[in-house]
Amino acid sequence: MQKHILVIPGDGIGQEVTAVSKQVVEAIGQKFGHEFTFDYALIGHAAIEATGQPLPEETIEKSKASDAILFGAVGHPKYDNDPSAKVRPEQGLLGIRKALGLYANLRPIKLFDELLEASSIKAEILRGADILFFRELTGDIYFGEKGRQDEGATAYDIAKYSKYEVERIAHKAFEAARSRRGKLCSVDKANVLETSRLWREVVQEIAKQYPDVEVEHQFVDSAAMMLIKDPRRFDVVLTANLFGDILTDEASQIAGSMGMLASASVGDSVGLYEPIHGSAHDITGKGVANPLASVLSAALMLDISFGMKAESEAIIAAVDSVLKDGFRTGDIADATTDASKILGTDAMGAELLKRIA
Ligand code: IPM
Ligand code: MG
Repeated sequence: MQKHILVIPGDGIGQEVTAVSKQVVEAIGQKFGHEFTFDYALIGHAAIEATGQPLPEETIEKSKASDAILFGAVGHPKYDNDPSAKVRPEQGLLGIRKALGLYANLRPIKLFDELLEASSIKAEILRGADILFFRELTGDIYFGEKGRQDEGATAYDIAKYSKYEVERIAHKAFEAARSRRGKLCSVDKANVLETSRLWREVVQEIAKQYPDVEVEHQFVDSAAMMLIKDPRRFDVVLTANLFGDILTDEASQIAGSMGMLASASVGDSVGLYEPIHGSAHDITGKGVANPLASVLSAALMLDISFGMKAESEAIIAAVDSVLKDGFRTGDIADATTDASKILGTDAMGAELLKRIA
């Protein structure tokens, strides 16, 4: 098969981890006889520095011309403590999600057995946990009108959802539940928010079309608690943009580390594959970033965008094998890890490549 992949490394460790996942994809291409071609584009702080814009028009054009996007991260500490900055790296990511209609963000939370001890949660609570989040990605308080009043002394962000926005992601989540353990938990705050009442109404309506899926509705505060208390009770979790942002960072601890979590953003056209960790400027340039989330995002890309199941599984098997052999990056090492087994970004990549060739 011939596929054209756009690599958008973005900021911070995004550069380092996408370099590894691109090599992994190339190795898979060689092994399975596919012709993968690559191009690069800018986003975030890197794009602001080069063009003044967090999302240059060229990046959108190249995205639309590609078969899939391998994405790094956006963000720079210089903006974090400057709330007045009008141009921000994150606008690049939000903008590309909107421009490409990437309304469904899939975040699989699956613990590699070898990492049971790396999490701060007890192993007996985690063992066997396997959750697939569907986070809505182009609506909610993220994209509603925002502004200031009273000469800046009052601020507002409007949360807004339309029926069709809930419907289209709900269908995707129900279909996924069908192919998994047949359970779906819709998370909202319907006891307080009107958008959540619409959300629940629509999900209840759609549920009628999937009588084989067992549905429950949970308030977000309670869901946050249950995720830590008993993660195994969840199969597919369907939720809005802001709740999904928060709950998936929380759920990353079920997978041992943020450094392990991949995501797929899909809609009606090209898909974007991105680790859920951010730009991590505290470790940028040190060569210690965990590339596995980006590599697992590449595995999702092969599976979801290209329908390459065996190729995707070959990547997951390589990750599994590296972990089984005891290799770790610093973020997933624990007290029992031998110092000689703690690898940097590139060395971890090299171990993966050995297992794919
Ligand atoms: C994520 C990130 C983004 C979000 C930021 C960088 C805008 O936290 O993908 O989860 O809030 O969606
Ligand atoms: Mg987030």
